[in-house]
Amino acid sequence: MAIHFLVTTAIPEPGLQLLRDAGQVTVLAEPPDYGTLAALCASGDFDVVLTQLRDRMDAPLLAAARVRGVSNFAVGYNNIDVDAATRHGILVGNTPGVLTDATADIAMLLILGTARRVVEADRLVRDGRFSGWEPELLLGRDVSGAVLGLAGFGRIARATARRALGFGMDVLFAPRPPGDRHVSDDELGEFAGKVRQVTWNELVQRSDFLSLHVPLTDQTRHLVDDDVLQRMKPEAILINTARGPVVHEAALVEALHSGTIAGAGLDVFEDEPQLTPGLAALPNTVLLPHIGSATVPVRNEMARLSALNAVAIAEGRVLPHAVNPLLGA
Ligand code: DGY
Repeated sequence: MAIHFLVTTAIPEPGLQLLRDAGQVTVLAEPPDYGTLAALCASGDFDVVLTQLRDRMDAPLLAAARVRGVSNFAVGYNNIDVDAATRHGILVGNTPGVLTDATADIAMLLILGTARRVVEADRLVRDGRFSGWEPELLLGRDVSGAVLGLAGFGRIARATARRALGFGMDVLFAPRPPGDRHVSDDELGEFAGKVRQVTWNELVQRSDFLSLHVPLTDQTRHLVDDDVLQRMKPEAILINTARGPVVHEAALVEALHSGTIAGAGLDVFEDEPQLTPGLAALPNTVLLPHIGSATVPVRNEMARLSALNAVAIAEGRVLPHAVNPLLGA
């Protein structure tokens, strides 16, 4: 019988083509709600489902699912209960590596954009309020010499460090907040002698820009809460290109409103696509619609990797990028 792939939301053509070459492909016309997705996965009609971040693949859905695998069109996979998938023998794949630089670019863009008040500046021009050069118009902050604190030190954090060092920033990191783990010089590689490891507490207190690069887990949910925000410098700016729920967004809105911290650059939100009331009205924010990986070559490559994972699952081969590797081995 022909292999049948379910694609919950159309992905770029290079991925769809690989799927079509391997079997039959059903692409849903619109993103499925939870009930529709659960019913499709339980139908027995599909071998592999190709999911997006908003597709909640939780334990009850996976328990009833009659699919061999789930291929997520993302590097993050907090939308999938991987333990439940493993218990039910369902393989899970993701798309690491290809979006590292693009996401680090967006982190850097948010650092520069918040420091130099780019949203306020753009609005002033578009609103016709630019009446000529002024000595004190929209004064911002220097990033050179400022302390960038990286929460996490994986691929995207390292790519952000590389860029920040080029801008003359002083880079600190805490590799596994809120916990600790020593990173040796060997592990630091090209960064040895250029960046410094500190505790999470120190990172919070010393950063001018605190940039989040951790996966969303039970340990990192609300990593930045009211308590952390209170310990940050009043002139600090929070940058989040990781996952929205890593930040307690209501506490952040309050901190920005009251001047506890100076600003925030966010590409992700706690209850995406909804924003916490009050956030959009704050002038000291740059808000982006989760576009960290949104370049044409990167999305094509994500499509290709997710399709390669899906085809490997369907054909019983080792996945190029397995999240539950014991099953994939
Ligand atoms: C991911 O891949 O996890 C990003 O958030 C979307 O590209």
